[in-house]
Amino acid sequence: MTSESVAGATARDGGTRRIIVMMGAPGAGKGTQAERLADELGLPHVSTGELFREMLGSDSKLGRKVRGYVESGGLVPDDIVVAMVKGRLDEPDAAGGVILDGFPRTVAQAEALDRMLRKVGAAVTAVLYIEVPQEMLLARLTGRRICTLDDQHVYHVVAMPPRKEGICDVDGAELYQRKDDSEKTVQGRLDQQLPPMFEVVDYYAGHDVLFPVRGDQPPDGVTADLLRVVAVRDAA
Ligand code: AP5
Repeated sequence: MTSESVAGATARDGGTRRIIVMMGAPGAGKGTQAERLADELGLPHVSTGELFREMLGSDSKLGRKVRGYVESGGLVPDDIVVAMVKGRLDEPDAAGGVILDGFPRTVAQAEALDRMLRKVGAAVTAVLYIEVPQEMLLARLTGRRICTLDDQHVYHVVAMPPRKEGICDVDGAELYQRKDDSEKTVQGRLDQQLPPMFEVVDYYAGHDVLFPVRGDQPPDGVTADLLRVVAVRDAA
């Protein structure tokens, strides 16, 4: 994927792309909320974590390279992540914009995204930062369960349980726990990923596009706050 092809894709939309970045610690609720916003705003939900998990499912050289990072709770190297996102932004369905979930996660990634967008006359529209007290994150992650048929169907054993234990409400498939949601790995994820995330938060605060929202409230309340922010941003 070349930078020219990304440029070509954006040139078609006259620079009106909506680039919404969902930020927050592991378990803050980015995926849950990104899915709702994608439905509301008619934009594709691009989760780098999901793209990596798909990659792990295929026996490719890149998948083998990425596996160690994802399964140990570390960050995948910036060059791999940036190339993958660049490719995804060039897909036709991203021409009007995207909701980025889990990217950028380092200042180097944030700078690469800015460069990528600047080249095509676009910019980050809003960074929606879901803030959750750190002591809540461990319980959110270790209690998460996901549908084996569709990983957009996400539950929590206490906060958002399925009607029948272990079974997806939507399609009746079994639920599973992500490998990196074990208690041991979760602590490693938080230790490794929170410091660079706070640097990215500072980076966007310095660019006047950061909008913090309280994530320690029921999911519908978080969604309402996020949609309010987007509406204000759209009207500006
Ligand atoms: P990724 O899949 O992005 O993992 P993450 O950032 O750790 O985020 P999570 O998916 O764990 O949490 P979330 O914030 O989406 O929370 P969710 O909505 O599910 O990345 C996986 C791995 O890929 C990374 O560890 C890394 O190795 C690699 N990677 C990805 N992007 C990368 C990048 N840019 N650079 C380098 N490496 C990268 O909610 C969590 C739970 O809480 C669920 O059970 C949910 O039901 C529940 N919940 C949600 N909202 C609420 C609420 N308001 N109240 C109560 N419970 C709630």
